[in-house]
Amino acid sequence: MKFFIDTANLDQIKEAQALGVLDGVTTNPSLMAKEGITGTENILQHYVDICNIVDGDVSAEVIATDFAGMVKEGEALAALHPQIVVKLPMIADGVKACKYFSDKGIRTNVTLIFSVGQALLAAKAGATYMSPFIGRLDDISTDGLHLISEIRHIYDNYGFETEILAASVRHTMHIIDCAKIGADVMTGPLSAIKGLLKHPLTDSGLAQFLKDYQKGN
Ligand code: E4P
Repeated sequence: MKFFIDTANLDQIKEAQALGVLDGVTTNPSLMAKEGITGTENILQHYVDICNIVDGDVSAEVIATDFAGMVKEGEALAALHPQIVVKLPMIADGVKACKYFSDKGIRTNVTLIFSVGQALLAAKAGATYMSPFIGRLDDISTDGLHLISEIRHIYDNYGFETEILAASVRHTMHIIDCAKIGADVMTGPLSAIKGLLKHPLTDSGLAQFLKDYQKGN
């Protein structure tokens, strides 16, 4: 399973990259705003900065909601850097734009997916990635992980190559459960990735090893 970090914070991206387990980055307009990155020029430069830190794919989201606008913005985003993946919303024009980009060999991530029907449309339109939002479904008492397993089942039935990018991951158990289900990618905060490190027996075992080493030296 690929690990993407879901942030526009350069320090966190650098920390995840330095850990050696990072395969890419996802961002969205809210994450950009959270970092105080505003204005088209600054946002575009920030995408380039992110690409220069990581080796993998970086999702950059269009703001337009009409087909022509998405095509214009998406082409500009894709031209920024070879690692950019154009992120498109799951609306009718987003599906059309996804098909347009996939026919042109430009990689896409269809976002804001909350149902298997939407997942089917993204795959049919040739999306490179599609992002079902687990945490936001959990937030409204709906089983986000169940959606991931249903999409996995359907994609495997037909051999769809679109990668399931489990998004809105909120904690470590989401990552583990996505791995069990067979999501191709997960994107989450640095805290969830670092949470995978933790085990009290690792800490106490290491402390004991160091103590025993000191006895003999
Ligand atoms: C996906 O690409 C989104 O940026 C993201 O995962 C949303 O997560 P949230 O529901 O925690 O905002």
